[in-house]
Amino acid sequence: MIELLPSILSADFAHLADQVAAAERGGGTVIHVDVMDGHFVPNITIGPPVVKSLRKATRLPLDCHLMVENPDEFIPAFADAGADWVSVHYEACRHLHRSLELIAHHGMKPGVVVNPATPVHLLREILPMVHHVLVMSVNPGFGGQQFIEFSLRKIRELAALRRDLGLAFRIEVDGGVAHDTVARIVQAGAELLVAGNAVFGAGEPERDARALLAAARQAEGA
Ligand code: DX5
Ligand code: ZN
Repeated sequence: MIELLPSILSADFAHLADQVAAAERGGGTVIHVDVMDGHFVPNITIGPPVVKSLRKATRLPLDCHLMVENPDEFIPAFADAGADWVSVHYEACRHLHRSLELIAHHGMKPGVVVNPATPVHLLREILPMVHHVLVMSVNPGFGGQQFIEFSLRKIRELAALRRDLGLAFRIEVDGGVAHDTVARIVQAGAELLVAGNAVFGAGEPERDARALLAAARQAEGA
C-alpha cells in the first residue's frame, strides 16, 4: 500500500506541531525525521529531544532516518524518546547485523538505508531482518535536491529480490520525490514515499501532501 511520509526537514521548525498536523490532514501516515550529525553527512539537524516533543504532538509513527556515524551509540536514546522506526545507513555501520538487532531489541522497527552509490544486492543477507529498506535517491544531507534517475533501477532490483527471497519488507524512497517523479517511483515498486520539499516547501503542507498522494495513488492504479 502506498503511504506518504512527510519529511520535517523542510518544515518550519518553529511551528513543528502545526506543520505535522497539516501534513497529516493532507494524508501523511508516518512522519519522517532526518537526523544528521555533521560527520556522516555535511549538515546538522535534530536528535532525540525533538523526537520526544514530536511524540507528544502526533500519534503517527515516527520514522527516524539516522545519518550519523556510530548509530549504535544513539539507538537507546531514540527508543526512549519514542521513535517507532529507526533506519541506519549501510555505509555508516561496521557491524550492520548488530545495529539492526539493537534496534529490534529496543522494540523499534529496523530499517537499512543505501546511498545512491551503494548497490542493493549488498543487502541480501540482512534483508530477512528489516522492516523497511530505504533507497536514497539523492545524496543525503539536504532537502530539495534533484532525483537521481538510476534510483528507479535500484527500486526495481530490490522489488525483484524481495519476490525471489519471499520476503515482505517495505520499500521506501527518499530524495526528490515530487509531482514530476512520483509516478515513475511508484511504478518502479516503492511504496513508502518520503517527501520534504514537495510537502513543506511552498508553505501549504496540507494541500501539497494531498496532491502528491493523489498523484502517487493514480500511478499505482495505472
Ligand atoms: C535528505 C533527507 C530527506 C529529505 C528529502 O538527506 O534524508 O529525507 O528531507 O528531501 P526532499 O523531499 O526535499 O528531496
Ligand atoms: Zn530522510
